[in-house]
Amino acid sequence: MTRSLDPYGAIDRQRQPHGYVEHLEGRGRTPAQRRLRRRFLRFAQIGRGQRVLEIGSGTGIITRDAAALLGPRGVIIGVDPSRVMTQAARRLARAGGFGSRLVHAVGDGARLRFASNRFDRVFAVTVLLHVANSSAILREMVRVARPGGLIAVQDQDFGSLTLDHPDRALTERIMDGVVGRMYPDPLSGRTIFGRLVRLGLKEVRLAVEVFQDTKLEPYTHAMLRRRAENAIRLGLASPRAAARWIADIERLAARGQFAFTLNYYAGRGMKP
Ligand SMILES: C[S@@+](CC[C@H](N)C(=O)[O-])C[C@H]1O[C@@H](n2cnc3c(N)ncnc32)[C@H](O)[C@@H]1O
Repeated sequence: MTRSLDPYGAIDRQRQPHGYVEHLEGRGRTPAQRRLRRRFLRFAQIGRGQRVLEIGSGTGIITRDAAALLGPRGVIIGVDPSRVMTQAARRLARAGGFGSRLVHAVGDGARLRFASNRFDRVFAVTVLLHVANSSAILREMVRVARPGGLIAVQDQDFGSLTLDHPDRALTERIMDGVVGRMYPDPLSGRTIFGRLVRLGLKEVRLAVEVFQDTKLEPYTHAMLRRRAENAIRLGLASPRAAARWIADIERLAARGQFAFTLNYYAGRGMKP
């Protein structure tokens, strides 16, 4: 596994870490992602007056949406190991006028600096696939939730990705080949339900959402271009084949025939 291909494992060590701020905000702006977020926050039962923690909060795109649901007495804290992400999250939260109800702190989800039994809700979205020690993160999430509090986790599962492309063999080589070498756990989505059950949580539920893009949104476009670049780097495709693969995608999009889907698995459970 070539872990360094995944920037989200160590954003601050990337050559241009600030670029990932726009990448995440861009992803968050797409209509399908807004819908995913809204549904996830409902699934996690985020509501007024709660004390909430998000692990791996990135630019705070979800903390801001969650803060808006908490009312004046609720508080949400986002924790992320990246200073660049945390600074961006603070700036965006200030611009949104959230005040002290929304706090972002630098920290590792596997070693939280909070006392046990503190939060009504603890959640993490698209984090587990990027980390080698996701079990430690899950254990910490359970520890800091109060008894009766909910832990909610959502991840994509790259085994569920589909892309309509005329060259299926090359698509498989690029898409499956790259994610298998890029992410510590590209199939994390499907594991969430079972892992929450094994952690001893009660009333564990699973909700699956399909992200779909038929427009080749800038976020999807950038992701596919990065996959092609990484396929070249990993020797999975020649520069020529990768360029042709991207050109075919852009041609499909120009004709209004682009279709891309990816499943997002969310699990939630209650701390006994
Ligand atoms: C793909 S981003 C998701 C950000 C945000 N949850 C969202 O959906 O927009 C993954 C985030 O996980 C963070 N991360 C990486 N390792 C982590 C760890 N050990 N503990 C907590 N967060 C971590 C990264 O810094 C990054 O901000």
